[in-house]
Amino acid sequence: MVTSAPIASEEFVSYLENLFTISLKDIKVIITDFHAEMQKGLSGYESSLKMIPSFVDRPKGDEHGSFIALDLGGTNFRVLAVELDGKRNATVRAVSKFVIPKKEMRGTGVQLFDFIVGCIDSFLTENSIDRKKLYNLSFTFSFPVEQTTIAAGKLLIWTKGFTAKGVEGKDIIILLNEALSRRNISCIKVTALANDTVGTLVARSYTDPTCDLGVILGTGTNACYREKLSNIQKLKVADAKGYMIVNMEWGNFNQLRLTRYDNELDQASVNPGAMYLEKMVSGMYLGEITRLILIDLTKRDPIFLKDSDAAESFKKRNSLKAEHMSLIEGDTTTNLDEIDRFLRNNGISNSTPHDRTTLKRLCEVVSARAARLGAAAISAVITWMDPELKDVHTVGIDGSLFEKYPGFEAKMTDVFKKMYVEKAKKITLVNSKDGSGKGAAIIAAIAASSETNQP
Ligand code: BGC
Repeated sequence: MVTSAPIASEEFVSYLENLFTISLKDIKVIITDFHAEMQKGLSGYESSLKMIPSFVDRPKGDEHGSFIALDLGGTNFRVLAVELDGKRNATVRAVSKFVIPKKEMRGTGVQLFDFIVGCIDSFLTENSIDRKKLYNLSFTFSFPVEQTTIAAGKLLIWTKGFTAKGVEGKDIIILLNEALSRRNISCIKVTALANDTVGTLVARSYTDPTCDLGVILGTGTNACYREKLSNIQKLKVADAKGYMIVNMEWGNFNQLRLTRYDNELDQASVNPGAMYLEKMVSGMYLGEITRLILIDLTKRDPIFLKDSDAAESFKKRNSLKAEHMSLIEGDTTTNLDEIDRFLRNNGISNSTPHDRTTLKRLCEVVSARAARLGAAAISAVITWMDPELKDVHTVGIDGSLFEKYPGFEAKMTDVFKKMYVEKAKKITLVNSKDGSGKGAAIIAAIAASSETNQP
């Protein structure tokens, strides 16, 4: 539990700015530590970076066919029908989105997979898909999965609030196939399993060959990149030539300086001791860190949000979300009217302009650290691939933080400019939203063609 000494909000914000600063010196240390963890992970030693081989490389562009894609990884589950024309064009023909009920996220694996297959069933019916044909399906399953082939892998640990029992340690494709059989759906052949980062890299590089990094900055965070097969020592492929995309699971990187708020959040999470980088960077947690700070400040400064019971309004865990922070930081009105409206909606009707400015600064402190840590992690991966920054690197990024959070991208590119000066131009961040649909279909096409090419 955080204990609080009295302090004025001005002083408190300065203290926080200090506490949450990620200096260029810090970033250099993070890069070195990242490289050490990457090396250990690739060699098969214990590491906070799992460095999971995906069994797929960038596409050639001639992949073609019709595919069904599943996308599980956040609060929504999606089923898509995607068509590839073999000329670098991918078209989403149909998509259905389903909210995953809490009882499925946190119940049993059987419940969760039955829910997934129920959604597939509705999708087939709604789109009048002929059940007499056989469809290749690609499953974007955005959790840490130790893949053993392109279509097999065991869930290592749940993240992002999922806890469905009986799934950790099990092969995801077997669980999906069992659920398909329980519902007598036989028109689906599960061809590929992929992480959302891999889908993002693959989708972007379908049309842009300079893309060698796929990143998610959304509910969770993670990245994958192209690695030389010869560097993935744990695969033990003699005479390895070529490249393979590696899912880093960077959300679990743990060489980080935690604040008391981070520790408090971690302890109350469903996975204490794991996913430290994710808990400092991703959308699922930023609101909660800010809420803990806000509550602390209301206890310390009797002037902040005086006469209102802010602690009461925000007493519920996770009641402050990254979307709210986005709205708060995006308020550029002179009197911070949007923030006022937000506070009123939460039962606080008498905030002063100073209160609102303070709240905005709290959000800025938390989101700036997230953006700089994200940039540090991207820098680490790029300098691992290309220490002198000789080549151009396009980073395909998906996720609402990157796409929607005011100033997030600018704060990241600022790090590259300060770190690499002229050479920062070699790094381009692009919003790439097609990973779990188009990327997944491309991966299924690669998998299906390598199956046909088997001797
Ligand atoms: C998961 C990753 C995923 C990321 C972004 C993390 O919680 O462990 O596998 O790529 O979220 O969705």
